[in-house]
Amino acid sequence: MSEIVVPVSSSVRSAAHVDAEGYQRLYEESIRDPEGFWRREARRIDWIEPFSIVKKTSFHEADFGVSWFEDGQLNVSANCLDRHLEARGDQVAILWEGDDPTESEAITYRDLHGRVCRAANMLKSMGVHRGSRVVLYLPMIPAAAVFMLACTRIGAIHCVVFGGFSPDSLAGRIQDSNATVVVTADEGRRSGRKVPLKANVDEALLRCPGVEKVLVVRHTGGAIAMQGGRDVWYHDLEASVASDCAPEPMGAEDPLFILYTSGSTGKPKGVLHTTGGYLVWSAITFHYVFDYKPGEVFWCTADVGWVTGHSYLVYGPLANGATTVMFEGVPNYPDFGRFWNVVDKYKVNILYTAPTAIRALMREGDDWVKQYSRASLRLLGSVGEPINPEAWQWYYKVVGGERCPIVDTWWQTETGGILISPLPGATDLKPGSATRPFFGIQPQIVDANGAVLDGATEGNLVLIDSWPGQMRTVWGDHERFFQTYFTTYPGKYFTGDGCRRDADGYYWITGRVDDVINVSGHRMGTAEIESALVSHVKVAEAAVVGMPHDIKGQGIYAYVTLNAGETGDEGLRKELVQWVRHEIGPIASPDVIQFAPGLPKTRSGKIMRRILRKIAEGDIGSLGDTSTLADPTVVDSLVAERAVRG
Ligand code: WTA
Repeated sequence: MSEIVVPVSSSVRSAAHVDAEGYQRLYEESIRDPEGFWRREARRIDWIEPFSIVKKTSFHEADFGVSWFEDGQLNVSANCLDRHLEARGDQVAILWEGDDPTESEAITYRDLHGRVCRAANMLKSMGVHRGSRVVLYLPMIPAAAVFMLACTRIGAIHCVVFGGFSPDSLAGRIQDSNATVVVTADEGRRSGRKVPLKANVDEALLRCPGVEKVLVVRHTGGAIAMQGGRDVWYHDLEASVASDCAPEPMGAEDPLFILYTSGSTGKPKGVLHTTGGYLVWSAITFHYVFDYKPGEVFWCTADVGWVTGHSYLVYGPLANGATTVMFEGVPNYPDFGRFWNVVDKYKVNILYTAPTAIRALMREGDDWVKQYSRASLRLLGSVGEPINPEAWQWYYKVVGGERCPIVDTWWQTETGGILISPLPGATDLKPGSATRPFFGIQPQIVDANGAVLDGATEGNLVLIDSWPGQMRTVWGDHERFFQTYFTTYPGKYFTGDGCRRDADGYYWITGRVDDVINVSGHRMGTAEIESALVSHVKVAEAAVVGMPHDIKGQGIYAYVTLNAGETGDEGLRKELVQWVRHEIGPIASPDVIQFAPGLPKTRSGKIMRRILRKIAEGDIGSLGDTSTLADPTVVDSLVAERAVRG
């Protein structure tokens, strides 16, 4: 196989924070002397009380635990705002671009500081204090960043719920986190349409008696119901609160935020990140991976409802005093040139987006891109799923005009920030490879039995030691944290991803090896979609698998067994798709529903997903051994039915 390598250009190298030797030196130091390395690097953020202890971590059951900088004290909002006021108070912190291209707003660090202080005081007036959980269910408007930072200012734990989630999903997260306050907006906007956020909150709260107050930001001005005693308008409270609020000194290991993410089993879990380690990690990775220089404009297109929006739209950029773009809209509204229009409008230097967006735009042809100059672009980033080499090449050649390196960044909600990625001045690129580990990261590739595989190889990706940005627990279920990540390969963190390492030591993530699927870069648990399907009165059983999808990366393929007497027709298919959208949200809509009289099961009753995946892929030739099934004829009828559907 001939392999394409895109070497670091000399101009990129000479301008970058580190070159190849610099990377090697720092990486080796970070592994040889983690204490010394992190003692120094953690000083890129401000500590109210310096730490003396750097690292106390073990992935082994006997002394399991993860803590970093544990006796230090700091405040995240002070790091993201106050410390920048003197030097760059008038620099723009957030450039907001509305869904409607005529709407925008530039917010300076000074202005943002004032808004965050007022928001913090508003939360206090609603009874929020250190350790309280606040659910943020907001559109991509500045208030989302303002309230995240406001929580950190007073030591409250934010829990952002993606605005595309249904009332049901929202209710589950509010209940699990035991939040007492919800911050939302009247409505959100998306490609010219409105999203009924406040109405969704009203529906969710029917099942959440613990919520005392709802703070509502006016965004679209659409008519909504306000419940007396519970619901409060932001603009009514704003005038009555002070514009200063002292930052609360927080312990490094105090909780910072909870973010729910899907796993291979059960309900989404509340990933908990803590204050010191998370901030150090988001700050240092932003600095090195995006090679950020003061004055540059950085645009991460992710929604704040996902971890990428947390670490690289809000915390990483603001901790570094950067100008960060926040975009409410979508890549194809009003037309397919929107991204490049925004790039030119704000002179974006660094663009960080997902392969699904790149593929969707690539399909529309080069002219949409070439109408715009894009001269400001210097670096491109990719995140969320493996990027196929064709999409990489298009991003590199057409979008970046072969001038801009691409950082293909591999990480997870659990990791807090980027773990495997090129550094622009240091790493020769290979399209489709996330390349090499960041400082402090020790990847290993193991086989199914846990044997360590050396050299060029392929297997499952594990990490053998902790890093500051690692999640600390599953909210309310520490045992689940240990069980989920540290028991498959005892003493190691199991990522859930498959991975290949080539002869140059480059890592190539091959995708999830568990029952998690990645649809348009959104992580979904197949179990969640199955449980939504079986909650429909006509459904007896369901099995969901991923299938290859040109744009989304993976699509959702659902096998559904109906209750006796029900018939699977087009009408019911549509009804079930609507049902799942209503239960979870539009991102979980099945692409294919195949009615199945029976599902392939082992004699002990376990569904053989491997076979279902192959059938969904149309890879009928390699179904493997089906003789161990309780009823092998089930497979034949599934294959026959699949063939009819084409
Ligand atoms: C996948 C998103 C290949 C991977 C930051 C991981 C990737 C899951 C990449 C985490 C990449 C993320 N190349 N795969 N550059 N980045 N993934 O928690 O399967 O939403 O386990 O975090 O996305 O998704 P999550």
